[in-house]
Amino acid sequence: MARIVLALPFEAEDRLALEAIRHGHEVVARCPTAHELAARIDGFGTSGDGSPDVAIVAATERHLTASLLSICDEAGVRVIALIDGEVDRRHAASLGLLETADLDADWTDLERMLAVTPFGPEQIEQEHEQEHEDSIPQSAAERRGMVIAVWGPAGAPGRTTLAINIAAELAAAGASVALGDVDTYSGSIAPALGMLDEAPGFAAACRLAGADSLTRAELERIGQRYHSGHSSFWVLTGIGRPSRWPELSAHRVAATLTQCRSWVDFTVIDTGFSLEHDEEISSDLFAPRRNAASITTLREADRVIAVGAADPVGLSRFLRAHVDLVETVAEGRVIVVMNKIRATAIGLKPAGQVAQTLSRFGGIESAAMIPFDPAGLDAAILSGRSLADAAPRSPVRTAIRELVASRLLPPEPERRPRRRLKAVRTRQVGTA
Ligand SMILES: Nc1ncnc2c1ncn2[C@@H]1O[C@H](COP(=O)(O)OP(=O)(O)OP(=O)(O)O)[C@@H](O)[C@H]1O
Ligand SMILES: [Mg+2]
Repeated sequence: MARIVLALPFEAEDRLALEAIRHGHEVVARCPTAHELAARIDGFGTSGDGSPDVAIVAATERHLTASLLSICDEAGVRVIALIDGEVDRRHAASLGLLETADLDADWTDLERMLAVTPFGPEQIEQEHEQEHEDSIPQSAAERRGMVIAVWGPAGAPGRTTLAINIAAELAAAGASVALGDVDTYSGSIAPALGMLDEAPGFAAACRLAGADSLTRAELERIGQRYHSGHSSFWVLTGIGRPSRWPELSAHRVAATLTQCRSWVDFTVIDTGFSLEHDEEISSDLFAPRRNAASITTLREADRVIAVGAADPVGLSRFLRAHVDLVETVAEGRVIVVMNKIRATAIGLKPAGQVAQTLSRFGGIESAAMIPFDPAGLDAAILSGRSLADAAPRSPVRTAIRELVASRLLPPEPERRPRRRLKAVRTRQVGTA
C-alpha cells in the first residue's frame, strides 16, 4: 500500500482517487495546485507519520513546478506526472521529470509503475543491459574520469567555443566524453550544436543526483548524443531560462560530476564567468547561490582551462580575474589559453606580445595561443557542428587539437604504443 497525494484536474482527480482507494492505497491529500501540494508535503516533514510516498500530478504549469519537485526530492516523495499532449510532455521534460504516464491511463498502468522502484539500480540494469552493452565498457565501474572545467572572465572570450571543441578533439582521439553546461548566465552549448534545450540535461542530472538516483544508465537516458564522422560524445545541455539556476546547487553539481567520472573518460564543463561568492553579497546564508555551479565545478575539476581574449581589454579582464581564479583552484591545475590572437588588435607578433604581458603582469608562463579565425568559427556555428566537422583544416581547429594533444591527453606512447613502435622500427630499417 502506498500513501498518495494528488494534484490533478478535477475529473482525473476524482477518477484516480477512487481507483487508488479501491486498490488498497491511502490518498492523504488532494490539492488543486502545485503550490498547495508543496505546502502540504512540507507540512508532513520528512519523518512525520502519514507522510506521502508518491505524488501523482498533472504535467501542467498549474500542477507541476520546479519548487514542488525540489520539495518532493527533499522529502523523498516520488513524483509521477500525467501527460495530456505535447505541451505537457515538454513541460515535464523541461523539469527533468522522466516518470510519466498518459492522463487517461488506467489505474492498472499506474499500479504497474508503482510496483517497480523508479530508476533503482535493478530496474536500470535490466532495462539497459542490452542497450548499453556497447556504450559502457566493462571497466567503467573502476573508471575515474577526468573533469575539465572551461572558465574565463566576462566579455565572451570563447569559453563555449573551447569547451565544445576540446570535447570534440578528445572524442576524436578515441576517448569517451561528456560535455556539460553549467553556465547559469548564458548557457549556449545546445544552440551551438543545434540541439534542443527544452529539456536541460545537466539540470535533470542534478535533480536525480540530489535524490541519489543518478546512475550511468540514467545519464545516457538524459544525455543527447552529438554524432559525427570524427567524434561522437554525450551532451548534457544547460538551462536556457536563466531563472532556473537554483536547480544547479553546489551539492547537486558535485554529485553529478562524481557520477560523470565513472561514466566517461573526460567530462568537459562550460562554466559561467563569475567567481563571486554570493554569500559575500547576500546576508541570507540559506539562499541558493547563482555562482555555486561554476565554483563547485572549478573546485572539483582536475584541469581548468582559463580562457582570455587576446586584445587589450580582454587581457586586462583576464589578468584581474586570474587572481580570483587561483584563490579558488590550485594554480597547478590551471591551463591558460589566450584566444582570438590577432595582430590587428594587439600589434605585430601578437603571440609574443600576449605571452610577454601575461608573464610580466600575471607571472603566467606557457599559455596556449589560439588564433583569431572568424571563418572557421562561422562555419561551425552555421552548421551547428564542431570545428573538426565543419572546418577541419582551419587554423583554430589545428590549434585546439594541438592544445588537447599536448596538455590534456596522456603522452603519445601511452596512448598508441603499437603504432609508435612500428614507426620507430620502420625508421630503423630505413636508416640501416
Ligand atoms: N578563435 C576565435 N576566432 C574568431 N572568433 C571566435 C574565436 N573564438 C570564439 N570566437 C567567437 O566569439 C564569440 C564568443 O564565443 P563564445 O560563445 O565561445 O564565448 P563565451 O566565453 O562562451 O561567451 P558567453 O559569455 O556568451 O558565454 C562567438 O561568436 C565565437 O564564434
Ligand atoms: Mg558561453
